[in-house]
Amino acid sequence: MHERQKSSTRLIKVAITTVALALFATVGVNGSIANAKDNTTPRLVDKKSIDAVINAMTLEEKSKLVVGQGMPGFMGKPNASVAGAVGKTYAIPRLGIPSLLFADGPAGLRILPTREGETNTYYATAFPIATALASTWDTKVVNSVGKAQGNEVKEYGLDILLAPALNIQRNLLNGRNFEYYSEDSLVSGKMAAAMVNGVESNGVGATIKHFAANNQETNRMTIDTVLSQRALREIYLKGFEIAIEASNPWSVMSAYNKINGTTASQNKDLLTTILRDDWNYKGFVMSDWFAGTNAVEQMKAGNELIMPGSAEQSTAIENAVKNGTLDEKILDRNIKNFLLAVLESPTFKKSNFSNKPNLKANAQVARQAAAQGMVLLKNNKTSLPVSKNGHIGLFGNTQIETIKGGTGSGDVNAKYTVSIADGLKNAGYKLDETLYKKYQSYISTLRQMDEYKIKDSPWGPAFGKVTPVIPEKSLSDAEIQTAADKTNTAVIVIGRNSGEGIDRKNEKGDFLLTDQEQAMITNVSAKYHAQGKKVVVILNIGGPIEVASWRDKVDGILLAWQPGQEAGNAVADVLSGAVNPSGKLAQTFPIKYSDISSAKNFPGTPSDNPTKVVYGEDIYVGYRYYSTFNVKAAYEFGYGLSYTKFDYSKIGVNQKKFKNKIKVSATVQNTGSKPGQEAVEVYISAPNGKLEKPKLELKAFEKTKELKPGQKQNLSFELDAKDLASFDESQSAWILEKGTYQVKVGASSENIKGTATFTVDKTIVVEKVSNVLAPQESIDKLSQSKQ
Ligand code: BGC
Repeated sequence: MHERQKSSTRLIKVAITTVALALFATVGVNGSIANAKDNTTPRLVDKKSIDAVINAMTLEEKSKLVVGQGMPGFMGKPNASVAGAVGKTYAIPRLGIPSLLFADGPAGLRILPTREGETNTYYATAFPIATALASTWDTKVVNSVGKAQGNEVKEYGLDILLAPALNIQRNLLNGRNFEYYSEDSLVSGKMAAAMVNGVESNGVGATIKHFAANNQETNRMTIDTVLSQRALREIYLKGFEIAIEASNPWSVMSAYNKINGTTASQNKDLLTTILRDDWNYKGFVMSDWFAGTNAVEQMKAGNELIMPGSAEQSTAIENAVKNGTLDEKILDRNIKNFLLAVLESPTFKKSNFSNKPNLKANAQVARQAAAQGMVLLKNNKTSLPVSKNGHIGLFGNTQIETIKGGTGSGDVNAKYTVSIADGLKNAGYKLDETLYKKYQSYISTLRQMDEYKIKDSPWGPAFGKVTPVIPEKSLSDAEIQTAADKTNTAVIVIGRNSGEGIDRKNEKGDFLLTDQEQAMITNVSAKYHAQGKKVVVILNIGGPIEVASWRDKVDGILLAWQPGQEAGNAVADVLSGAVNPSGKLAQTFPIKYSDISSAKNFPGTPSDNPTKVVYGEDIYVGYRYYSTFNVKAAYEFGYGLSYTKFDYSKIGVNQKKFKNKIKVSATVQNTGSKPGQEAVEVYISAPNGKLEKPKLELKAFEKTKELKPGQKQNLSFELDAKDLASFDESQSAWILEKGTYQVKVGASSENIKGTATFTVDKTIVVEKVSNVLAPQESIDKLSQSKQ
């Protein structure tokens, strides 16, 4: 057929389709008379218009609106107006409903930095990973990162950011832990709320994800998470509950996994009974990408939007209404919840966007947050700060290939990453150039080899790069000796990365150091120490690694985490003392992997291809476990040093008997010689009663302002009955049991500075909630009574 003929055939087809669609719009597919295209057609303008707009929709339109348009740029789908956006919703222009655009993710906005046929670039700022942000213990810092991140979402013309992520770091091998904040639900919830509030202050939406109990990447789409109602409520849901109460995010993303037998996105108990009935959530729920197996069940469960969405899913929903297996009212309810967010969106409001976020200013936010999140793990004989007059021997591949963040949807296409070597140079440090050049040429040579070539992510260039790990460069004794002779301090950089889709391993090169890394630490330390020179290790990692076997060999350890694109500059800020470190761990560094309470139950059974994972450790996750069962950690939850010292005094409570609230107070004084900030942690030891209690539970925290030497700050924390309560499965209620409560104020979970007590005379039922999501099998739970 001729080109011209072809196009006229196409025109006829278009004409037929248009007529069919017009008919379709007049007589709805379910037979009801839908709106004719006349002046009475309502349009979405405000909340009041929503019901009429839904009423005017055809069933086909409804079924399409609750399902996204597929992943832009994938499987033949056209690109979205913002390349790299991962989700686009359906538009119904005749009713005034536009398509919304969604993009990842937790460490910054993930979009494609370049667009075909354009010279403009669209870089986004890579902020420190969530784990690093949590280590600031400072919600103000996290809020400022949220504001900056949201500014990029807005200025690039997007509607909703698919972040923050706040799953609990149940086991350090979870490949996505870097996207998450902590092993503790209070820290996770508070940080997520601060992030949501920051992002949404720009008039764009945030999404808290992945709801819920999504704590591993192994078989993440299918794994059945089996856990007790108490562990679910106290550990895995609590952070979401806190974040929702404190920030009411536009959206919640349901998770891939099953919870006690039912897929999260098809789980009405989770998405309606708990989220809406118990918690009064007012936003909308979207599924994780390609989650679930049954679109109709997702609709029934209250998963309002299916992402990224397929035509088959819309058809299934439409057919279910037609054949009476899905009540159209459910569809209407879901649409209403989604349209409430549409009304708020920049696209709906036709907000202007510049495509020019202030990347310079945001890089400064990233740098400050990164420095605030770094944790000084060891500092013998004040080996840090390292004087700028000194000469540094810098060791380790990662000094050059510094890792800004993890991989997968949580990656960010930043314009640059300041390497640790460059950061130190920028700050004025003199490096051993010969050594530096050796590393440079070693890395560039290996990167030419096929095996080590850096490639685009298999998911596409928008998902960042795959950087195969290069073996640590081995150095001869003579090379190390020369460096030790020439320089005053050795700085060794150890790096690790992990990402979406695959869990980490308890093996050399991952949780464990490789033989080359061990040798580098041993040999460099021996040569420098022989000359009375100090050795400092910088950890550029996304989650805990083994430290116990080597930490005694070195003088200082700075945990820099994966600090975002300003990595090297932020490391230099802390190393030099321009910033006094005040970060503390929001997760435990165990001595060995088998010390983790979930080690035996990760990633599930059968071990070769797990289908379910039983949370046998129950509520004893992280420090709740180590403290209760006296298992020694390498570095405990809440731990972190400073270049100055702090003294705690006047630790007390305002009443001896609990009424509705209790006020805890403490005074912190900087007794050292440098200005600094201190994160103050408030734990409770609740009495064992009907329910057993972990020895410690974090109930509040606050970072002091910067205190000058000698300066004091009084802090006070208010705790109500719900804050202190435990979950009683037999009543499906939060209860505050009678007995004596110890309030422990400390600098870490092991460094308690003072204890006060109060009593509860009579057990209080604080809040009754729905009795849902019980496990379908009995769980062999860890318990103090079994010890
Ligand atoms: C991830 C989500 C992400 C989505 C879109 C999924 O694979 O689990 O966290 O937002 O992809 O990229």
